[in-house]
Amino acid sequence: MIRPLNPPITNWSGKRIWLIGASSGIGAALAQRLLSSGAQVVISARRAEELDKVASGHSLAHTLAFDVTDTGAWPQALSLALQHLGRIDLVVMGAARYDPTHSWEIDLDQVEKSFDLNVVSMYRGLSVIVPKLIEQGTGGIAMIASISAYTGLPRALIYGATKAALNNLAQTLYFELAPKGLAVYLINPGFVQTPMTSVNDFKMPGLMTPDQAAAAIMTGLEKGRFEIRFPRGFANALRWISRVPDRFRFALLHRMTKM
Ligand SMILES: NC(=O)c1ccc[n+]([C@@H]2O[C@H](COP(=O)([O-])OP(=O)(O)OC[C@H]3O[C@@H](n4cnc5c(N)ncnc54)[C@H](OP(=O)(O)O)[C@@H]3O)[C@@H](O)[C@H]2O)c1
Repeated sequence: MIRPLNPPITNWSGKRIWLIGASSGIGAALAQRLLSSGAQVVISARRAEELDKVASGHSLAHTLAFDVTDTGAWPQALSLALQHLGRIDLVVMGAARYDPTHSWEIDLDQVEKSFDLNVVSMYRGLSVIVPKLIEQGTGGIAMIASISAYTGLPRALIYGATKAALNNLAQTLYFELAPKGLAVYLINPGFVQTPMTSVNDFKMPGLMTPDQAAAAIMTGLEKGRFEIRFPRGFANALRWISRVPDRFRFALLHRMTKM
């Protein structure tokens, strides 16, 4: 049997997990599932009241509100997360924004804010978390990107580029950190019904609920996958399309998106 790229997680009970970007959508659903499975979870995002709702009724939940774009907030956030958890077995970084854009209507403010949140904030987090995990000698980092990273898609002009950056970043992280005993996961979801996608006015193929997405993420982590993509059919099809010669790929995408 082929060995998984990361150590499979066989039991969630007692796992100490920091979820960043978990006041709504996929992160909130993942928090609920992890807490129900016995993990101890620190839930982070900006809106404290929404975090409280996610944590409500769970004795193993802690909330930690901060803004990931605030470089100076990260060291204290890590130290508070460690106060709650003692050690970090897994951090899931999913804070992001989505500004659907065509190439003829570029808003530089949206470009800067998207790259700052979706990409630069990952580096902000990594700059404090990676040294800590190396010191611990154990633990894992999961970054939520998107299958829009695979190929240029209509309206994903800004978002797709930020998520493509994360796909590249995760590979370097794996390359460098796996030999140090750390796990690195790249989570590439397809369409999930969350506040983020509520702006979409087109039919979203393979649309999942946040709870289905959370279940798919946990299955991927349990199997020790490096890349966790879902839903499998749509994600695999898009991945395949991204690898066919340019001429056929553009034609296929025009036909699929009717654009
Ligand atoms: N939904 C989809 O179809 C889909 C598809 C592919 C990938 N994804 C990815 O999945 C992840 C979760 O997205 P979602 O769909 O669940 O959307 P969502 O419900 O809008 O969740 C985004 C989360 O990021 C947090 N956040 C935003 N800005 C922040 C900041 N400056 N500091 C701290 N937290 C911040 C938000 O909380 P606050 O507003 O409280 O800060 C919220 O908890 C994102 O990385 C997204 O790109 C989603």
